[in-house]
Amino acid sequence: MIGETAFRDYLDELKKHTPYDFSEYSDNSIHRRIRKILKDYDITMQQLLEKTKTDEDFVEKVVEEITVNTTELFRDPEVWTSVYDKLYSGIKGKKNINIWHAGCSSGMEVYSNLILLSELGFLDRVKVYGSDINARMIRQAKMGKYALKFNLAQLKAFNKALKKKPILGISEIDFTKYFDFDESEDSLVVKEFLRKIPWFVKHDLVQEEVPFYNKFDIIFCRNVLIYFNASLQSKLFKRFHDQMFPGGYLLLGNHEGMSGFYKTKFSKNGPLFVKNNSFHFKY
Ligand SMILES: C[S@@+](CC[C@H](N)C(=O)[O-])C[C@H]1O[C@@H](n2cnc3c(N)ncnc32)[C@H](O)[C@@H]1O
Repeated sequence: MIGETAFRDYLDELKKHTPYDFSEYSDNSIHRRIRKILKDYDITMQQLLEKTKTDEDFVEKVVEEITVNTTELFRDPEVWTSVYDKLYSGIKGKKNINIWHAGCSSGMEVYSNLILLSELGFLDRVKVYGSDINARMIRQAKMGKYALKFNLAQLKAFNKALKKKPILGISEIDFTKYFDFDESEDSLVVKEFLRKIPWFVKHDLVQEEVPFYNKFDIIFCRNVLIYFNASLQSKLFKRFHDQMFPGGYLLLGNHEGMSGFYKTKFSKNGPLFVKNNSFHFKY
């Protein structure tokens, strides 16, 4: 049995000896993940601590275990079909559209979005950034290469969702425009013209300054904050708020919401949080 203090002590040591700070991740998921590491490597908490202090490669593996990388192409299809109905009028007149996918994992969310932007005719106006704490995920995002079978099913599911609820008249996407499919290799690779658009960067949302100079029209941060405690979530809402244009859009995951002070700084439009204009009245 591992006590609460042992977990906390471990996170303190991890923070001291590595660039990572998971002390404000929610207890449940952290405890489960650390227990899994101990079991998989068949080590004690003391041995985990020693390896963390001395073995950088091992630390990266710990980070991979602690951060959950699950993602899908067109994850939650019904969100994608409603988001662009809401976004379209807000971005259609813009010359440049800046988009940040914070916690983008292996890039599937970024490419899903780029495909929709292409179908809607926005591709030549977008600057798209994807960031994640996990270096392996960022490498995969840059390659844009994924397993065929599962992802093909996702694409078919998305076309089915589109048939039911078209996005501004788009009721089917021909995915051969965007991917090379290779059955013998069991792979699906994003075509080069699309792959060269996003700028992927390893970045820790908790510890590091935002690595971009520009402000954003749209920020995606889906299924990331759910692993953080309320105080860390608030810090990130401030960060996103500072980094967005007034009227900019923030999309969170299906099971994530906003509470506290920053709730008053955004209005809700369907699944989107829209940054309020802040006026300073002079009397
Ligand atoms: C469950 S995935 C979600 C991926 C994608 N947004 C989606 O919804 O399909 C969560 C991602 O957040 C990343 N993450 C967790 N903590 C992070 C941090 N402090 N900074 C940046 N990314 C982080 C993880 O590495 C992981 O890839």
